[in-house]
Amino acid sequence: MPGKIINIAQQKGGAGKTTMVTHLAVAWAQKRGRSVAVLDVDPQGSLGVWYEAREHYLGEENTNLTFRRANGARAMAEAQALAKEHDLVVVDMPPHGTTSANAAIRAADLVVAPVQPTPLDFWATMPTLEVAAAEKKPVLLVLNRVPPRALLTATMITRLGQYKVRVAKSYLGNRVAYAESIGGGRTVLETKPSSVAADEVRQLAAEVLRRL
Ligand SMILES: Nc1ncnc2c1ncn2[C@@H]1O[C@H](COP(=O)(O)OP(=O)(O)OP(=O)(O)O)[C@@H](O)[C@H]1O
Ligand SMILES: [Mg+2]
Repeated sequence: MPGKIINIAQQKGGAGKTTMVTHLAVAWAQKRGRSVAVLDVDPQGSLGVWYEAREHYLGEENTNLTFRRANGARAMAEAQALAKEHDLVVVDMPPHGTTSANAAIRAADLVVAPVQPTPLDFWATMPTLEVAAAEKKPVLLVLNRVPPRALLTATMITRLGQYKVRVAKSYLGNRVAYAESIGGGRTVLETKPSSVAADEVRQLAAEVLRRL
């Protein structure tokens, strides 16, 4: 059986797609015997830069991940090819959905959409939800950069509920540790494994797997 393909998609720029791809992929790859690939479909290539830093700091043999890049038109075939040889494939989608980039959603078993908990960010998520709906793909919204102000977040979750979209119970807080860990080709799971941030990532990774 092929592995599962998880597309991290959100047409709004800077929502946290690449941060979530790196953290989820590393969390999943930490389980012994599980093979994980990451696929960069974003022409900005940030995931590739992260992976190169990872090779540099950890050594090419120790990244614990397979990395590939593909343009939108090739993304579906590449994701499916990776899924033949890996248990999980995590796809980093570009912002500003183009037709070819949107086609990459066709390979997905699940679309994970990071969204910052503000009304503006949620409104900007609508095009992503529409693309996923057109392809009949299940979506899991994940709140990202959640500030330590629970009230706004609670209100947002209630609002999101009106749109009949699943919202993950787990979320990532607004923590500088996430940004810091990326620079060295790592994740908070590796730079601060005992932190609250690392706990958030492990909880989210487990929840996403349960939704597959
Ligand atoms: N939970 C978080 N806490 C703090 N900073 C975060 C968090 N998530 C993302 N960031 C920061 O927000 C910025 C955007 O994140 P990221 O690059 O992951 O978003 P993106 O959706 O991939 O962006 P793009 O649309 O350009 O591809 C980065 O500087 C990143 O370090
Ligand atoms: Mg990105």
